[in-house]
Amino acid sequence: MFERYKKELQELKQNFCDRKLISLKKAGKYIFEDNKKYLNLSSNDYLGIAEDRKILKNFLKIADFSMGSASSRLLTGSSYVYAKLECLLAALYRKEKALIFNSGYHANAGIMSALLTKKDAVFCDKLNHASILDGIKLSGAAMFRYKHLDYEHLEELLQKNRNDYETAIIVTESVFSMDGDIADLNRLIELKNKYGAILIVDEAHAFGVYGNRGLGIAEEQNCIHDIDLIVGTFGKAIGSMGAFCTGHEVLVNYLINKCRPLIFSTAIPEINIAFSYYVITEVIPNLKHERKELIKTSVRLREKLSALNLQTTGCSHIVPVILGENQTAVNVSKELINNGYYLLPVRHPTVAPNSARIRISLRADIKYDELDAVPDIIKATITNC
Ligand SMILES: Cc1ncc(COP(=O)(O)O)c(C=O)c1O
Repeated sequence: MFERYKKELQELKQNFCDRKLISLKKAGKYIFEDNKKYLNLSSNDYLGIAEDRKILKNFLKIADFSMGSASSRLLTGSSYVYAKLECLLAALYRKEKALIFNSGYHANAGIMSALLTKKDAVFCDKLNHASILDGIKLSGAAMFRYKHLDYEHLEELLQKNRNDYETAIIVTESVFSMDGDIADLNRLIELKNKYGAILIVDEAHAFGVYGNRGLGIAEEQNCIHDIDLIVGTFGKAIGSMGAFCTGHEVLVNYLINKCRPLIFSTAIPEINIAFSYYVITEVIPNLKHERKELIKTSVRLREKLSALNLQTTGCSHIVPVILGENQTAVNVSKELINNGYYLLPVRHPTVAPNSARIRISLRADIKYDELDAVPDIIKATITNC
C-alpha cells in the first residue's frame, strides 16, 4: 500500500535530496548534538534574540498571558494583546491597519489566495518563497513569473498581459531568502503605478534587521508609504513566532473576512504575541550597532568567498555559496559540520535544480574571525571532490 512512497523516498536518497529531522540542543550561537559543539550558521535568528535567555527572563517577569488561545481569531482567539500589537505595527509603518497571522506561511498563502481569483493576474519574482507560490496556485489566478530581479522583464509581462485581467498584483520578497539579494522597491512602485497593480512586499528576512527602526527594506529604501501591503514575520529576526501584514484598511478588512488560514486555524497564544510586542518595543530599538555589525561581517565574508573564486550572490546577512550538484552541497555540509560549523545543504525544491548551495545565515553576535575558516573548508572540499 505504501510502496509508492517508499520508492520516492529511495529516489530522493539516491539524488542526495532526502531530508530528516534532527534533535538539537541550542545555547546562544551554538548548537549541541551528541555532546559536540557547533557554531550555528543555519538559523534565521539574525539578532540572536530567540536564544537570548536574558531577554526571555526579563520578558517573563512581566508576562501574565495564556499559553493557548483555544479558538480561531474570529471566535475568541483574538484578545487585547493582539489588538495592541496590531495597533503598534500600523503606527510604526504609518498604515491604516495591521493584521497578525500564525506564521509567514499562513500569511502569504492566505493573502494571495484571498486577494486573487481566476479573473486576476499575479506578477511574481521567479525566486519568491513557496508560501507565496502556494497561495497563488490555490487562487487559480494567472501567474506570470518574471526573471529574478529583472524589472525590464516584469514590465514586458505587464505590458503584454495586464489589461487581460481584472486585478493585478506584483509580489516580491525584499531580502531573498536563499540568495540574499535585495529587491528595488522604488522601481516596483513605479511599475505598479504605471500598470495599475497592487504591490505586496514580503519582508520576512528584513523585518528587524534593515532600516533605521528595523522596519525592513521598505524603510531603508524610504518607500513604506507607497507599498500597498507589507508582510513581516516574527519567527526570524524577532525571535518569536507569527507574522503580520499592514496596509490599506479595506485590504485588511477583506482578509479578515476571506483569508482561510486566519479563519480556520487556532490563533497562536497570547504569550507569543506579547513576546513579539516586547521585542519590537524594548529590544529592537537598542540593536542599531548589532544590525551594522551583521552587515559588516557579511561584506568581509563575501570578499573572502570572491577571493577564493567561490560563487556567491547578494549583499545582505544571508550569504549563499552556490555549488550546483546536490552531492557537492551534501559533501561540503558534512565537512563543515565535521569542522564545527552547523551549515546544512539547501537543495531542490527549496532552490532551482542544479543550484544546490550552502546558505550562511549570519548572526549579529558571530564575529568574522569565528567564520573566517568557512570559505577555506568549502574550497578545499570542492577541490578534492
Ligand atoms: C520569504 C519568506 N516568506 C515567508 C516565510 C514563512 O515564514 P514562517 O517561517 O513564519 O512561516 C519564509 C520562511 O522561511 C520566507 O523565507
